[in-house]
Amino acid sequence: MDEWEIIENQTIYYRSSENMHEIEDNSIDVIVTSPPYNRKKRYSDDTGVEYNDNRPKDEYFRFLTKVWRECFRVLNPEGIFFLNIGDAAPDQGISEEVVQLTEKVGFYRLQTIIWIKSFLGKGHFTPTGGSRRLNNLWENVFVLVKDKKRYRMNPKAVGIPYADKSNIGRYSNEDLRDAGNVWLVPYSQTTGSTIKKGHEAPFPIELPYKCIKLAGGRKVLDPFTGTGSTLAAAKLLGKKGFGYEKFPRKKVIRKRIEDSSDYFPPTILIPHLEMSVRVLTRILDSVDLPKHLKDRLLNFSKKERTEMMILKDVLDQLNQNLPFLDEYFDHWENERRKKEVSKKIKSLSNYL
Ligand SMILES: C[S@@+](CC[C@H](N)C(=O)[O-])C[C@H]1O[C@@H](n2cnc3c(N)ncnc32)[C@H](O)[C@@H]1O
Repeated sequence: MDEWEIIENQTIYYRSSENMHEIEDNSIDVIVTSPPYNRKKRYSDDTGVEYNDNRPKDEYFRFLTKVWRECFRVLNPEGIFFLNIGDAAPDQGISEEVVQLTEKVGFYRLQTIIWIKSFLGKGHFTPTGGSRRLNNLWENVFVLVKDKKRYRMNPKAVGIPYADKSNIGRYSNEDLRDAGNVWLVPYSQTTGSTIKKGHEAPFPIELPYKCIKLAGGRKVLDPFTGTGSTLAAAKLLGKKGFGYEKFPRKKVIRKRIEDSSDYFPPTILIPHLEMSVRVLTRILDSVDLPKHLKDRLLNFSKKERTEMMILKDVLDQLNQNLPFLDEYFDHWENERRKKEVSKKIKSLSNYL
């Protein structure tokens, strides 16, 4: 029998997704995945067996086609398939060829979300451009559907408040608008130890989180589970998830799903209403907040403090009182006072 396990309502099959016979036809509401890019990345399982990420192109395409065919079979006609793949700086165009394979098995390409991994120094990237080209700081998230008449999507589920409040009432009655198809989700640093643990290319949990919210539904699938980012997001959103991983690091997957709330990057604390108040409360409430996260949040930079103020404003409007936010602003008020006092002492000392 194939090996599998269930972690917090997330079922993972430790084998190839070329055949996903455990999943019924038309039963999945949202697929979020990032396949191997065939770019010599390292993926190896607990015993050290490695996936070959440098296959002849036709073999790589045949393999992906099998998985996309299975994805087409299991996706609900109302569902959405988010396919994340980027191009390497020296290998432009491969992502286009990969998405065309999905079209060949029947998917309809609705649009492309541009995922910006790093912007103005925010978000990790490994310098690869050298003096020949610029680094590649974005990737595609292709939005694919099985039935273009029946799919459903709720852009406001990952919406943002209007900057110009006079728009409320003009376009809709609530202070919430579609945030568009360019997503800044800073890439968290892939540490040496993650690479040693055999998974070089996890996407941030925030990425599948947004996709799942956008699509809605109850059942989520990631045919290339990797470290388990999609299933971690599914767990946070209370969904039932399914994943396949042929070269699993089981401890890494378990930890990512079990500790998913701790993995939320502080940058998610921007005033987007994309996170449910329940999750925000869980993260920000001083009682539950793990110490390392709390220390990180308290040390937010000046610019991020502005974001926290907007966040407070949004939460105030939702009548949410989060004890941690008071603690946060008290902290900065104390810091400001301390600075003022030391400035005064300094200027006084000039007279002495
Ligand atoms: C780009 S990674 C996915 C990373 C994942 N999104 C994350 O955040 O950790 C691709 C994964 O596909 C896995 N893989 C390769 N061949 C596979 C197959 N035939 N079936 C299932 N998984 C496979 C690799 O081991 C690797 O973990």
